[in-house]
Amino acid sequence: MNSEISVKPFVKCRASITPPGSKSITNRAMMLSALAGGRTLLKDVLFSRDTNIMADCLQKLGYMLKLDRNENTIEIDSAYGSIPNSEAEINVGNAGTAARFVTALVALRKKGKFKLTSDKAMHARPIKGLIDALKSQGATFEFLGEENHLPFVIRTNGLNGGDILIDAGESSQMLSGLLMASVGAESPMNVKLSSGTVSKPFVNMTIEMMKQFGFSCEVDGTNYKVDLRAKRRADSPRIYSIEPDATAASYFVALPIVVGGVSEIVNFGSCKLQGDSAFVEVLESIGLIKTQHCGNNLLVYASENTVFPETVEVDFNDISDTFLTLASISMLLPFKLKIKGIAHTRAQETDRVGAVACQLRKFCASVEETEDSISIIPYTREELVKKLPSETLVNTYDDHRIAMSFAIAGCADIRGDGKPWIKIENPECVSKTWVDFFEVLYTARKDSKKFRVIAVDGGAAVGKSSVSRECSRVLDYMHVDTGAHYRTIAYGLLEQGVDASDKNAIIQALKNLKIGTALEGNSAKITLNGNLVPDSEIRNERINLKVAEFAAVAEVRDFLKNYQRSMADFGKENHFNGMIMEGRDIGSVIFPDADVRIFLDADEETRAKRRAKEGISDSIKKRDELDKNRKTAPLKQPEGADLIDTSHLTKEQVVQKTLSLILES
Ligand code: CDP
Repeated sequence: MNSEISVKPFVKCRASITPPGSKSITNRAMMLSALAGGRTLLKDVLFSRDTNIMADCLQKLGYMLKLDRNENTIEIDSAYGSIPNSEAEINVGNAGTAARFVTALVALRKKGKFKLTSDKAMHARPIKGLIDALKSQGATFEFLGEENHLPFVIRTNGLNGGDILIDAGESSQMLSGLLMASVGAESPMNVKLSSGTVSKPFVNMTIEMMKQFGFSCEVDGTNYKVDLRAKRRADSPRIYSIEPDATAASYFVALPIVVGGVSEIVNFGSCKLQGDSAFVEVLESIGLIKTQHCGNNLLVYASENTVFPETVEVDFNDISDTFLTLASISMLLPFKLKIKGIAHTRAQETDRVGAVACQLRKFCASVEETEDSISIIPYTREELVKKLPSETLVNTYDDHRIAMSFAIAGCADIRGDGKPWIKIENPECVSKTWVDFFEVLYTARKDSKKFRVIAVDGGAAVGKSSVSRECSRVLDYMHVDTGAHYRTIAYGLLEQGVDASDKNAIIQALKNLKIGTALEGNSAKITLNGNLVPDSEIRNERINLKVAEFAAVAEVRDFLKNYQRSMADFGKENHFNGMIMEGRDIGSVIFPDADVRIFLDADEETRAKRRAKEGISDSIKKRDELDKNRKTAPLKQPEGADLIDTSHLTKEQVVQKTLSLILES
C-alpha cells in the first residue's frame, strides 16, 4: 500500500454531509442483537472494515446474519443467547471493538475453543485487563505470541456470574465487552472496576444501548450490576436504527474553520449516544465555530472576528477520538494549543499522540508531547507558506483518523493559488470507518458543482433581500435583487416624465435607458446609462408608490427579462459558483428551472411592522394587490417551490432554512 492523494485546497465549503452510521454503535448493536433473543433488524448500519470484521466474527461463531449493503441493514438471529459454534478461528483485524467484544462474547460458550488472530498492529494493543477478568471466571488462554496479547486460543466454559474485577484503565472497550457479555452469564454479574477507565462516554453508550436492547445495568460508582438475559425481550423482532457517526461528523464541523463557508451535518440531532458530539460544543466554546440547529440537522459556520487568547488548553479525555481533528488544523489557528487527557490514544490504531506530533512538526513552529498531552505552537500563515516545500507528505500509520484529519487541514488554501500543499499517504485507510470519505470531501468544494441558480420570491417585506444577501455572503454566491431593477427602471421612466398608464410613452422612454451591471462585493447591481442610481433615489415614497404600476406593464417586464436571465452568465464570468436572485417572478418566469425555488411569505401585520421599522412609508398592501393581480407574471408561489412562512421566524431562522434547502439540493 504505497498510494498517496494530494488534497486540493478550496475556499468556502458548502457541504451537506450525511455522516456514515456510527462504527461504535454498529458493532455494539451487532453484539447485543446476538445476545438479545429473537431477531433484530439493524438500520442505517455502517459498512466499513471494522464493522465487516465484527459481522464476520459473528458469522464464524455460527450466528445467522443477513447483510444488505444497498439498504444499509443487517438482520441478525440471536440463537437465543447461546453461541452456536463451540469452535472457530476468528480474525479481528485491527478492530479494537471486535477484538474486545468477541473475546468477552465467546467466554459465554460452554466447552468452547476459539482461536483469535489479528493484524500485527493489534498484537500490541491492550487486552490484558479483559483476559484477567475472564480467567477469574474459568476461561483459559494459550498465547501464540506475546503473553496477554493477541493472538491466542481461548478455552471457555461460560460465565458463572457474581463479582468480577476488571482493570479497564487502558481501554474502555474491555469494560464494554464484558458488560455486554455479562447478560449471558449463569447468574447476575457484578462487574467492578479495579481502576478508573478512559472514555467514559463510550461506557455510557454501552449501558444505554444495553437498556435499549431490553437489558438493565445499574451503575453505582465503579460497580456495574448487570441483569440476566432471562429478562430479555425475546418476543417480536426488534428494529434498531444506528445513529450517524459523530466522530466522522467532526471533520466537517472543522472544515469551515479552515476554508470558510458552511457545512450542514444531516441528522446530527440523532447523535444522542455518542460523547463525541460534544466536539461541537468544545469548538464553539473556543470561539472557532458558530452553529445553528435546523430541524434535526446542524449548520456549522466559522465564527468571524473572534479574539482568541494566546493559548487555548482543552481536555479531550471524554472525546479523544476527535482530538486529531482539532490537532491537525491547529497548524492554521492563531493561538497556541494544548490538548490533554489523551494518554490512552497512544494505544489505539497507532500511538496517536506520537504520530500526530510527528506529522505536525512538519508544519508547526513547535510541537511538544507529554505522556498525556500535546502542545502546538503554529507558525503565522506567512511563515508557514515560506517554510513549506511545495507539497508535504503526511504519514498516516494506517490510521483512518490521521488521514481524515490532515485531509481537512489540507483543504485550506494557504497560498491562495488553489495548489495542493498536503499529500496523504495511504488514503485507503479511511475505509476503516468511512469508505467514501474523500468522495464526500470532494462534494464540499465549490468547483464540484455546476453554477447553481437559486430563486427566492415573495411579496413586499417578507425578508427576501436580507435573507438572500446573507445566504449569498455565507455561500459566496452572487446576489441579484430584481426589485432594484424595477425600482431603477421606474426611476428612469419617472425622470423622463412618463406616466405608468401611457404605454406608448413607456415604450419610447425605455429606448433611452441603457442598462448594465456593476459588481459591488458579491451583489450584482443594475446601472442606468452607465451609473448606479443611489439607493436614496430608488427606495423612497415616490418610487414605492409607482414601481408596482410600471412593473405591471408587459413591455417593462420584457425589457428586464433577458437582462435578468443574462445574470447567470455574468455570475459565471465573475467566477461565482451560484447566484441567488430574488423578486416576484424568478422561480415562475425568469428561471422556472432554477436549482432551488423558495417562496417566502409572512402575514400582513408582520410585514407592515417590518417595513415600518425601516422608517420608509410604503403601502405594501397596495403594492401586493397590484403585483398579485397583474396580467403579466403575477406574484404567486411557483408550483413545486418550497414555502417558508417567515411570520414567526427570526431572520437567522429563515437564513438557516434557506441555506438548508440550498445545501441539500
Ligand atoms: O421593497 P420590496 O422588497 O417589497 O420590493 P422590491 O423587491 O424592491 O420590489 C419592488 C417592486 O418591484 C415590487 O412591488 C414589484 O412590483 C416589482 N417587482 C416585480 O414585479 N418583479 C420582480 N421580480 C421584482 C420586483
